[in-house]
Amino acid sequence: MSKQRPVIAVLVGSLSKDSINRKLARALEKLAGQRAEFRFVRMDDLPVYNRDMDSSYPPAYNRLKEDIHSADAVLFVTPENNRSVPSVLKNAIDIASRPWGTNSFAGKPGAVIGASTGAISTALAQQHLRNICVFVDVYMLAQPEAFVRYHDGLIAEDASVTDDSVREFLSKFVDSYLAWVARLSN
Ligand SMILES: Cc1cc2nc3c(=O)[nH]c(=O)nc-3n(C[C@H](O)[C@H](O)[C@H](O)COP(=O)(O)O)c2cc1C
Repeated sequence: MSKQRPVIAVLVGSLSKDSINRKLARALEKLAGQRAEFRFVRMDDLPVYNRDMDSSYPPAYNRLKEDIHSADAVLFVTPENNRSVPSVLKNAIDIASRPWGTNSFAGKPGAVIGASTGAISTALAQQHLRNICVFVDVYMLAQPEAFVRYHDGLIAEDASVTDDSVREFLSKFVDSYLAWVARLSN
């Protein structure tokens, strides 16, 4: 495990090419700078989980499991779909947690953050995700909670955050997350 510069498996719960959550994840990566290596986990080619495949996982499933297993920590950056976790993200979690006894998430530190244009900004999705993470044995950062209300231009093309107070808040989130990762890596 690289404690000086932890590898972070980043799971963005949106496949949209215009995803505001991917923009947010890039902004966090920029704020982390050289303190961490963000590795964005591919999820767009994962067949829907079916336990019949447990005896012979397809290559995309094994790649996902290795991406999680080889990381020091996980970071979920997710929108909220119908007041819960987007199916693409839940599918990836189900896949990486199986086959039974080979949970790739086990014991890893993690955190969740999300962006939406709506007023409650992913709060329910994040809470549902926290429930899931208890079972898949990810130790989630409790505070600060981070609900980002997105508006056009909040994150620029170069991943910089254009609003001073939001940038300051996100910097604190990154600092707390990296401190949490370091603490659980000792
Ligand atoms: C199927 C669907 C369900 C949604 N449900 C919610 C919701 O429950 N709460 C919310 O704040 N936004 C909801 N939205 C709006 C998304 O949060 C918004 O589209 C956001 O930009 C998605 O993030 P992304 O740009 O990273 O894909 C929903 C959007 C879709 C397509």
